[in-house]
Amino acid sequence: MPDIAALACALPKAELHLHIEGTLEPELAFSLAQRHGVTLPWPDVQALRAAYDFSDLQSFLDLYYAGADVLRARQDFHDLTWAYLQRAHADNLRHVEIFFDPQTHTARGVPMAEVIEGIHGALARGRDELDISFRMILSFLRHLPESEALETLAQARPFLDRIDGVGLDSSERGHPPAKFRQVFARCRALGLPVVAHAGEEGPPAYIEEALDLLHAQRIDHGVRAIESEALMERLARDQVPLTVCPLSNVKLKVYPDLRDHPLRDMLARGLKVTINSDDPAYFGGYVNANFTACVQALGLTEPEVLQLARNSIEASWVEAARRDALLADLDAAARRWRAGPA
Ligand code: HPA
Ligand code: ZN
Repeated sequence: MPDIAALACALPKAELHLHIEGTLEPELAFSLAQRHGVTLPWPDVQALRAAYDFSDLQSFLDLYYAGADVLRARQDFHDLTWAYLQRAHADNLRHVEIFFDPQTHTARGVPMAEVIEGIHGALARGRDELDISFRMILSFLRHLPESEALETLAQARPFLDRIDGVGLDSSERGHPPAKFRQVFARCRALGLPVVAHAGEEGPPAYIEEALDLLHAQRIDHGVRAIESEALMERLARDQVPLTVCPLSNVKLKVYPDLRDHPLRDMLARGLKVTINSDDPAYFGGYVNANFTACVQALGLTEPEVLQLARNSIEASWVEAARRDALLADLDAAARRWRAGPA
């Protein structure tokens, strides 16, 4: 039997849905706590890992925001991002578009510059040393008022040369995209492309709002689109990329089991689906772990795996010349795989 998971792991890919704060592995959390003389509310790494037992999105977010408290200085953000890039490199990621949540840090008194420069410094190092190109997406926290998002955008203005787009994350239910119409209009006027989390826990109507009111170019998650025939048709017709995160969806109980995940149906309906890791330190694995689990649980085929890898590159914001080079690398890797072991 061909090893489709091995093919998926070997292919060059892009990751488009990754919260950098969600890459904080327990070992790094404890080492940063020690760096700053902070005591975490868990006695050790094992106890923290054991706490990763979530009932829904909110139960995860509570822990995720608590963990982020150890991120205090530029070096911390650099170390966090560098650790992620090494894992990305091991998974054959060639391009990454990462979210960061400035409000999680500025609310604790960490200056915006420390956050942005720390992350950006590591990404530039990853580009030079690991050949991973990147984009940075500033994400607004939707459980907070729009006025605070506007204030965050104002604080980010001196760093716009570092910011490639804006997103919307955190607690979805009760916080529809419509709540953030003004701030996203302002972002678009500044030339920033928009993405938004929608249809993870929230209804299909939130996906429509993200498209119609925020003018989102991609939808993060979007799995609940499967509940609306009209929306499925629209997403397929317009080839709106959906950055799906299968292990996240199981860990946060969007689906009871990966075998219940609609990823394959979505692909069969012609949606532009990509596979991503979301918050890999908390959800059980990085991109290749997500691909491998999907191959095992859903029986993804060779053409489906190739399509998913291709979609990740095509749906990215990488410049055209590099996109074409990455797609050529993808075709070459597929040909090598078909030719069999060297
Ligand atoms: N959903 C919403 N907000 C988030 C997530 C997520 O999966 N991860 C980090 N912030
Ligand atoms: Zn997410």
